[in-house]
Amino acid sequence: MQKFEKIRGAAFDLDGVLADTAKFHTQAWRELAEKVGVKWTDQLQEALKGVGRMDSLEMILAAGNIENTYSDEQKRALEEAKNQRYQNLVNQLTPDDVLPGMHQLLDDLRVAGIKMSVASASKNAPMILERLGLLGYFEGIVDPAEVQAGKPDPAIFSKAAELLHLPPEVVIGFEDAQAGIQSIRSAGELAVGIGVPGDITFENTHDVTLAALKEKI
Ligand code: BG6
Ligand code: MG
Repeated sequence: MQKFEKIRGAAFDLDGVLADTAKFHTQAWRELAEKVGVKWTDQLQEALKGVGRMDSLEMILAAGNIENTYSDEQKRALEEAKNQRYQNLVNQLTPDDVLPGMHQLLDDLRVAGIKMSVASASKNAPMILERLGLLGYFEGIVDPAEVQAGKPDPAIFSKAAELLHLPPEVVIGFEDAQAGIQSIRSAGELAVGIGVPGDITFENTHDVTLAALKEKI
């Protein structure tokens, strides 16, 4: 494994890593699943993490074997309804909703000279980062509309390194989703798993400190 001294960039997932928003995506998808009559399970909930909006809808419909029941237009209406519900839920976000320890980590990485970008599948990422007061930390935010494929494809994390003008070998990626860990690894970066197994793993965001990273990498 590489030494921390070689690391020059960090790419952060947003929902469930920087922001306490994964629960709102889950709530909005769960309500939609109930509306279309699809049984909600823990596996479905985990599998949806990190997955883009339309792909998530397709996974929910497939879980209920109803993927052919809706036209493209109806699917667009469903994803739009989910997004409106999600936006209502996150309307009240404040800087207090940055997940425990992450503010400190961003400060410490900045002081250590590590360049940072955001590698989220969410089209709402810029709005959420602004609400949380975190925009100033990042040299780039990947626009998921501009990459050909969502996580687990490497595209989002590859782009996150490109935005920092760094090769993937010197970038670490932070993720709370299985699909995201796969994306980081296929991009050739080192995967830090938070609540999910990575190249190095932490149980929760609180435990992810600069000192712990230096020790584990
Ligand atoms: C990911 C979340 O970050 O973004 C997923 O983990 C979500 O739950 C996806 O579906 C897309 O987000 P949005 O805000 O574009 O619908
Ligand atoms: Mg996430």
